[in-house]
Order: sequence, then C-alpha cells, then structure tokens
Amino acid sequence: MPGNGMSKEERFELIDTIPSLRREWEGRLAPLEALNPRRPATFISVGGGELGDLAVTAVKRNYGGIGGGIKAVAFDKYQGFPAQDAAEVSECFNMMDGDLLEERIRRHVPDPSEPHAIYLEVERIDTYRAYRMGIEKGYRIMSTPFGPLVCMDRHATKIMFDKLDLEMTRWRHAASGKEVDDAASEFGLPVIVKPVMTSSGHGTSIVKTKEELAKCYEHAVEHARGIGNEVIVEEYIPELKTTGTEITQIVVRHFNADGKIINSTLPPIEHKRPGATYHESWLPSTISKGAEAKCREGAVKIADFMGGLGIYAVEQFVIGDRVYNNEVANRPHDTGLVTRWMLNMDEGALQLTSTIGLQISQSSIKIARGGVFGVAHVVLAPDSITDEVEVAGWNASRLNAMMPEGATGDAWYFGKPTAYAGRRMGMAIAFDKDLAVARTQAGAIAHLAEGCISYGRRV
Ligand SMILES: Nc1ncnc2c1ncn2[C@@H]1O[C@H](COP(=O)(O)OP(=O)(O)O)[C@@H](O)[C@H]1O
Ligand SMILES: [Mg+2]
Repeated sequence: MPGNGMSKEERFELIDTIPSLRREWEGRLAPLEALNPRRPATFISVGGGELGDLAVTAVKRNYGGIGGGIKAVAFDKYQGFPAQDAAEVSECFNMMDGDLLEERIRRHVPDPSEPHAIYLEVERIDTYRAYRMGIEKGYRIMSTPFGPLVCMDRHATKIMFDKLDLEMTRWRHAASGKEVDDAASEFGLPVIVKPVMTSSGHGTSIVKTKEELAKCYEHAVEHARGIGNEVIVEEYIPELKTTGTEITQIVVRHFNADGKIINSTLPPIEHKRPGATYHESWLPSTISKGAEAKCREGAVKIADFMGGLGIYAVEQFVIGDRVYNNEVANRPHDTGLVTRWMLNMDEGALQLTSTIGLQISQSSIKIARGGVFGVAHVVLAPDSITDEVEVAGWNASRLNAMMPEGATGDAWYFGKPTAYAGRRMGMAIAFDKDLAVARTQAGAIAHLAEGCISYGRRV
C-alpha cells in the first residue's frame, strides 16, 4: 500500500481487512486507570493548528498538564503555530518526511508500551509511515492507524459506505475523461467531480453543461494532491443549498467504567458554506428528529466499523428527513470548533480524554448553554493579500470596545505569525435564542475582528 495513494484493488482489500485489523488494534488498547505525575502519559498532536490547540490546551485546562500526569507535545511545520505555546514541548519540521516523523515520535515516546496517544491533526503528514508505526510497532496512532488511509481517500470511503449499506449520493469512480462522461450520462447533469484525494474543494467542479464536462477531468487531475488521475463523479444535489442543510455528526469512542470501548454521540452540528470551505456552524441544529436519528445511526455504524479510540466526524447532507453520508474525518472537525462554547467538553478535550484512555460517559457530553443557538463564524485574512505576509498585530481592545450593540459574543484569536489570502485567523461566536439573529451577529463580530488584525511585510 503506497503512502501517496492506493490502487482501486487495494482500496477494496483494505476495507475487507478492516474488521480483522480493527479487532487486533482494539485488543492492544487498554484504559488508563489513573494519571501519574511521576510517570506522565504523553499526548502528541501531530499538527498544532486551532484543532490541535483545542486538544493541547485541554491537557492543561482539564488535567493540570505535566503536573497532573499528561505531557503535551505538539508538532507543526512552522514556528509560532497555535498549539506551540500551550504544549510542554514542541517541534517544527516537515511532517511529510516519514523518517523525521518517526524519529520525532520516538524521541518523545521511546517505548510504545508506555502510556501515550498520537493525534494526527492534519492530513499533510506521512500517513503511511504513521500507519506502519501503529500496526508494526504498537504506537497508539488514534483513532486507528488505518483511519487516515480510508478517510483521506474518497473512493475507499465510498466503498466503506457501500459495505455498511449507508445512504449517500449516487457516485462512480472514473479514471479517464470517457469514464467521467459515462457517469454524467448515467446521472444526468449537473454532477460534481472530485479528485479521489483532496480537501477544501481543491480540484472539485460542479458541472452543469456538456462543455464544462470536457474540462473538469483535467482540472481535477491537475489539482489532485499526491499522484493520481482518479476522480469520483457524484450526482449533484441542488436542494442542498436551498431547502437542505449540512451536518457534522461527531461520535467519540472511549472506554467506559467496565473497561469496554463504546460510542457516545455529540449533538449534531449544523453548518452552511457559501463556498467549499468552512464558514459558519452552530449548535443546536434545526434538523428534524427523524433526520437526527439517521445522522446518528450512520455515524455510529462508521465509528463501530473503523474502531479504535477518539473522534469520528461524519459529514452529512440533510434534506428534510433524508440523510446522505458524505465524508468522514477520524479526528476533530473544523465545524466542531463551535463545541468550545456550546458543549461542556469541547471536541479537543474529548479527543484527548478518549485517546489517552480515560473514561467519558455519554451523560457528560451535553449542551452547556440551554435556550440559545451558538453560532461560530470564521475570521479570515483578507483576499487582497498576495503571497504570504507577517501578522503585525491583533487589537483586542478595539474589538472589545466595538462589539455590536446588543450582541452576546466573543472572539478567539489563534495568533498565527503569518497569513495568506483567506487563512483562518480566528473564530467569532454569538449567542441568541433566534438563530437568524445569532448568525447575523456572529458574522458581524467576525468581520469586526477581521478589521482588528493588521498585516505587515511579505515573508
Ligand atoms: N453531491 C453533492 N451535491 C451537492 N453539494 C455537494 C455535493 N458534494 C459536495 N457538495 C458541497 O461541497 C462541499 C465540499 O464537498 P466535500 O465532498 O465535503 O469535499 P471537501 O473534501 O472539499 O470538504 C460540501 O460540504 C457541500 O456543500
Ligand atoms: Mg467536506
């Protein structure tokens, strides 16, 4: 199985072997009975952006850091990354380099039988090396060492959905312009064409006309991350943007009091995106009870199939009572950043707690603010930035002084040292009993916050 992509056959093989891989993996996992400051457990966040930061700060917030028995280590490729100052130790290096990745993990966890957990926060690392360190050497790559191989590959994900009999949009695998055409004639236009391995909409096209169809395949292949000329052609669902909505259903796998691994579910997180990337998300969701049950059922099936410990975030499209499963992340999800304000334990704390082997109970996962919607909205660097620039400053007191009249909200600034057009620099949140009001206010706070960041020289 090559690190930069599997063949079609290898994907089927992988999905077929997961039940046995999973049994073996879970057989090696044991709960952590107690934290011991004299022999701290090591938690490594491979990637230390805002999602890593949420887990790493939970090491201190919830468990007292190294003095409480957990040592936090964070890796990323640049100095000044968000989780760096919260971690006990940090390292900056190219995480795509498998030898370096292995050496750095071993530096902090020389003996994999000692208590530890390794959280792969980003996809741009050598996931195949991480897989081998997990399977062959017993490193606790969470949720499972094979999780990223399935979740980063749309085709493998769809094969898994088929095996689990989950609802999804109609799709075809295609490896040539001709196969794309065949799929499009089968479904009828519009279709959406996505490279097998990408995220954030790179290389994806919504194809409405025959003329566009000819170009979309080249576009996808050009933008595909890693090697590969394969795409997934999906039936496009226009209602999604009108009457439909999008959900991230998070499941956390963790030990219970009997030392068994079980699933707990978070309330479904609703999100809307004008483009392909994360823009705003909120809790609680507005979907029907029937749709909620289907979202939960689909996500639990996936988490049970993949196994291990930690968070699975399942992206779903909801139209009325219909639910289409779309993608899975075997880690916390950007739409879940809203849990920082809306749940008593956010997704970072849940990821940390479950993967290190501590207990959680379903009853401890609750909406912390009753009676209001909490809407999180991204704070972005301006599109006018060309290349990459230094961040000169963050004027927090200006933001505090200018908070919109009547708004109840807050902003979280990540402190990234540099920016490029559209980079996520922070999050804004607003609370209101009326969802429309909360959305408007979150947007207003986000835009105010954007104006409080100043940028400097090109780097
Ligand atoms: N089949 C589809 N029909 C309608 N909208 C879609 C479809 N597939 C994707 N989208 C829209 O595009 C977004 C990104 O697609 P997704 O498959 O999640 O790829 P990415 O890896 O870029 O997140 C989705 O959140 C949804 O808004
Ligand atoms: Mg997605």
